[in-house]
Amino acid sequence: PRSGHVSVVIVGGTGDLARKYLWQGFFQLYVDQVSGGNTFSFYGAGLSPAEKATPVLFEILKAVTCSKDVSQDRCAILKDQFLRLSQYRQLKTLEDYQELAKHIEQQLQQEGMTEAGRLFYLSVPAFAYAGAAEKINSSCRPTGGPWLRVVLEKPFGHDYRSAQVLATELLSALKDEEMYRIDHYLGKQVVSKILPFRIENRKFLDPIWNRHHIERIEIVLKETLDVKGRIAFYDEYGVIRDVLQNHLTEVMTLLTMELPVNVSNSGEVLRNKLEVLHSMLPLGKNQAVIGQYQTYKTEVQQELNKTKEHVTLTPTFAAVLAHIDKAQYEDVPVLLISGKMLDERVGYARVVFKNDVFCLQSQNDDHCKPKQIVFYFGHGCLKYPAVLVSKNLFKPLIVGEWKEVTEHKDISVLGLQISDYYIQTPTTEKEAYTELISHIFAGQKNNFISTENLLASWEVWTPLLSSLKGSFPRIYPGGADNGGMLDVHLRGKEIHYNSEVVIISPDQTGG
Ligand code: BG6
Repeated sequence: PRSGHVSVVIVGGTGDLARKYLWQGFFQLYVDQVSGGNTFSFYGAGLSPAEKATPVLFEILKAVTCSKDVSQDRCAILKDQFLRLSQYRQLKTLEDYQELAKHIEQQLQQEGMTEAGRLFYLSVPAFAYAGAAEKINSSCRPTGGPWLRVVLEKPFGHDYRSAQVLATELLSALKDEEMYRIDHYLGKQVVSKILPFRIENRKFLDPIWNRHHIERIEIVLKETLDVKGRIAFYDEYGVIRDVLQNHLTEVMTLLTMELPVNVSNSGEVLRNKLEVLHSMLPLGKNQAVIGQYQTYKTEVQQELNKTKEHVTLTPTFAAVLAHIDKAQYEDVPVLLISGKMLDERVGYARVVFKNDVFCLQSQNDDHCKPKQIVFYFGHGCLKYPAVLVSKNLFKPLIVGEWKEVTEHKDISVLGLQISDYYIQTPTTEKEAYTELISHIFAGQKNNFISTENLLASWEVWTPLLSSLKGSFPRIYPGGADNGGMLDVHLRGKEIHYNSEVVIISPDQTGG
């Protein structure tokens, strides 16, 4: 990449996401690049006046931390430099954006620096995207060679049509290659390991990665928390739009797409993902089970100042059965499940392989134990992210800077003995946002969502969302102090929903 000065502007720079992840990610970027050819300025921006927001910003900046390999003294120096390169700017009106551009240009001139690029991270509600993109385009676009990159957070619309409207608005201000739509799941260590793992272990996987051997694919994110504090957002969206349409769908495409020749070739990666999205059968109502935790209704009434009669149909749990219409995956059920206030916090994607027929008789034979590959996102009983491969399947090759876990306590993961797996885990832990920020800086787009892929995903999910309109979700207890949480298990195509068995089946005619 072109070296020179980089201006980073986080719009919404004192907000929740910035406080939790973004500043830490940009500090790490600074640490990684400080001895390279680039220099930086960081701007935390927002609607509040500078007098009010500056102390808040600096309180956040002071809390960034160094990785374990940096000494305390060195860390103190780096933090001090980072703070001195940072400032707050009010960005409300067009004049504010013009002032910011003027400030950047004056600084470049005074210090005789060449410019590498400008990065705007829009950590603001989606309704503010179009306006911000427009102002960036009209007054903050660098001239000549430097790049402009604008980062956006979901939600990117709430159905196909609204996503298309938003995309059109954004494309009138920005070029597609300038937009980086983030899905933080693509920055998770295990998720970014799926393709390299499939490629590296091709000789084992090629013969079995198909309908003859795969029994089912599950992609699951179970959470124990409620949504208090963000109900104004959540009640408009619900779990399908919040998690399934984006995070779980992305993981599904990584598991089922054609392998790219080069994982860093974003054109190829995004094209292959698009092909999966296009080959998904449209989702219909009887392919989904939706639920809502019991106290959700009251939380909505309280947080949104509604009366006791107010009813909300927003699902906080969904299990959806998808199918990919390709010979390779014919009849392979793909289950996507997520919910709030469930019995455990766990996230994983697993490919379960069929057992040989004669195993029905002799379950104790090692050969007959479940065969599966699990991409475990972290949390839950394992605590760390990992790839697990049943020992009776094959011994996987290690990819990149990962290590094999040889010592483990005798716990069970997803109902299976951990000693029955080969386990690999990353050597260092890295936050998803920190990882993705380094990709944005490098101009590497394979782990972001292109306009085309976004719309293709909405095309899959919109028929289901429309068909569910007006449907009452099943109420589940949820919450330890509320009589227990929803316990969800999968058995083949059945979903065991507490003690109830729900069978979801494909609707070939679509929504
Ligand atoms: C976010 C959703 O995108 O992802 C949240 O808005 C959800 O509702 C979160 O809790 C899950 O991400 P993680 O990284 O905590 O598994």
